[in-house]
Amino acid sequence: MLAAGLTMQTMFALRLFKPADLEHVIRINKLCLPENYSSLFFMDLYERFPKTFVVAEEDGEVVGYVMCRIEKPFPGGGLFGIAKRGHVISIAVLPNCRHHGVGFALMKEAMNAMVEYDAKECVLEVRTSNTAGVGLYRKMGFGVKRTIRGYYADGEAACVMVKKLPFEPSSVT
Ligand SMILES: CC(C)(COP(=O)(O)OP(=O)(O)OC[C@H]1O[C@@H](n2cnc3c(N)ncnc32)[C@H](O)[C@@H]1OP(=O)(O)O)[C@@H](O)C(=O)NCCC(=O)NCCS
Repeated sequence: MLAAGLTMQTMFALRLFKPADLEHVIRINKLCLPENYSSLFFMDLYERFPKTFVVAEEDGEVVGYVMCRIEKPFPGGGLFGIAKRGHVISIAVLPNCRHHGVGFALMKEAMNAMVEYDAKECVLEVRTSNTAGVGLYRKMGFGVKRTIRGYYADGEAACVMVKKLPFEPSSVT
């Protein structure tokens, strides 16, 4: 077990994703987000970056996940700068398990693991209308780097949000 959290209502535990979790993670992803992926995509990220693929369990049931990629800089800097960065590809928590601190704990765990891969910053895209997502990332100290119009398949814009690593609890607002 990586970490645990306790609220008035519930207790949850974090652990690394394992292949047996795949169907649960895919179900949560489909239920919570319009951006869905193939099994191969999930497994590829697990095989390449196992430490940043974390699940949350409540009463032995997978209730949330975060899945990331570590991106290397292009030689000489360029578009993606000069340092390795962690990219949050997908995070979701089942609706009935939200507001227990699970999303925050998943993000914190993934960001700590990004440091183990030598990433210097964490980046993600979030729909401009996603109040919960933006609220979570702002609470963790992320700032908006830019907005990309028409980023999502339905035409909605994305906020690109960035936070320097390591994650310091003191940056929580
Ligand atoms: C975004 C998401 C992962 C948050 O998960 P969660 O477990 O409910 O989040 P937490 O309980 O850890 O909340 C941490 C903070 O996030 C912010 N937050 C969470 N839900 C919020 C909401 N509905 N509105 C505004 N801020 C919210 C708050 O700052 C909260 O801190 P607080 O409890 O002290 O107010 C969850 O809402 C979700 O799965 N949404 C659907 C999938 C999604 O949008 N993923 C992100 C794609 S970029």
